[in-house]
Amino acid sequence: MDPIRNPFSPGAGSPPPQLAGRAAILEQARILLGRAALGKPEKSLMLTGLRGAGKTVLLNEMRRMAQDAGYRTVLVEAHEDKALGLLIAPSLKTVFFELDRVARAGDRVKRGLRVLRSFLSGLTVKMGDFEIGLDIEPETGAADSGDIEMDLPNLFEALGEAAREKGNAIAILIDEIQYLTQKELGAIIMAMHRMQQRQLPVVLLGAGLPVLPGLAGESKTYAERLFSFPDVSALSEADAARAISEPALAEGVRITERALKETYRLTQGYPYFIQEWGYQLWNMAETNPIDLHVVKAATETAIRRLDQNFFRVRFDRLSPGEKSFLRAMAELGPASRSGDIAACLGVKVNSIGPVRAKLIKKGMIYSPAYGDLAFTVPLFDEFMKRAMPEFAKEA
Ligand SMILES: Nc1ncnc2c1ncn2[C@@H]1O[C@H](COP(=O)(O)OP(=O)(O)O)[C@@H](O)[C@H]1O
Ligand SMILES: [Mg+2]
Repeated sequence: MDPIRNPFSPGAGSPPPQLAGRAAILEQARILLGRAALGKPEKSLMLTGLRGAGKTVLLNEMRRMAQDAGYRTVLVEAHEDKALGLLIAPSLKTVFFELDRVARAGDRVKRGLRVLRSFLSGLTVKMGDFEIGLDIEPETGAADSGDIEMDLPNLFEALGEAAREKGNAIAILIDEIQYLTQKELGAIIMAMHRMQQRQLPVVLLGAGLPVLPGLAGESKTYAERLFSFPDVSALSEADAARAISEPALAEGVRITERALKETYRLTQGYPYFIQEWGYQLWNMAETNPIDLHVVKAATETAIRRLDQNFFRVRFDRLSPGEKSFLRAMAELGPASRSGDIAACLGVKVNSIGPVRAKLIKKGMIYSPAYGDLAFTVPLFDEFMKRAMPEFAKEA
């Protein structure tokens, strides 16, 4: 088929031609946005799922929904080594300036800016100087303790009050939430608790790898009460089929039942893989409808491309020790326990702790349940075997 007309879009955050199987989650977002704008209580959303499952795409869609519903939005992507306060402050400044332009009496926006300035001086103490260009006196003592768990709720409160005064609502969207530190996550939870108590029009929409299992004590109890955690997982066979067949059909091309079935088997319904296979199927097909033999031909290219991009970028960030650890995990199957991995590597279980912690911090593995470890990238075990075929089991 003509590559120029190829409807598929493999790539991190690339909007798919057909957003399949997410109606229920989008409906949840619609209700949340509607209720919060009216000052009614509703749980904020944390979308959780593996890499390539479609979280970023959903978050962007929710941002559009929020904007359509009259919200002002702030979107940040958490980062392994950048503090949340530094990431979020510039966008909050923009929102305060936007609110300031809304013609409606009140002094809450000015106060909000002073609180933001205070928040920034709190950060400066911790992280050294940086420039945000906010020429205003800080509201001393408002949000400058330097302790994010105290300062962020105060800042959000000032923001919520400013928004309410201007008849506006705010949606804060945070992608890659697994990169937040425990303290930052705790701060977000406390801030949203404050929003709920004060009935302020601020909602939080997060996305990332599952974070709940890592939380403990009070944070966990609050998190469960304040957030809902919709699972962004692989698509069902019917949704996967729709995700491929409908965009093709819109271009006048049919894909046979058995070709769809085989594609589902190979992709296991993971959205990123569906786009990749769809893309290759389209480019390789010479006749309409696209049949099984094209899937066979496309698979080789699809896997090669994934190995060179989707998998490889993650592999290249690993130290030799981390690679061996993951290779041992791959040997054991898609989910494994520390003890088994240590045994597989021929070392004592407590010696693998630091590597395990690094891999979790890098977002390569996570703990779906106490003591268990799993890859955050679907089919990564198969990739590891292709990338390191020579792994010899010790002992
Ligand atoms: N519901 C869906 N149906 C079909 N394709 C999807 C869907 N959601 C995401 N995709 C595709 O999957 C890929 C990964 O999406 P992305 O949002 O970046 O995943 P994540 O943020 O979970 O890693 C993109 O190419 C996107 O077009
Ligand atoms: Mg993403």
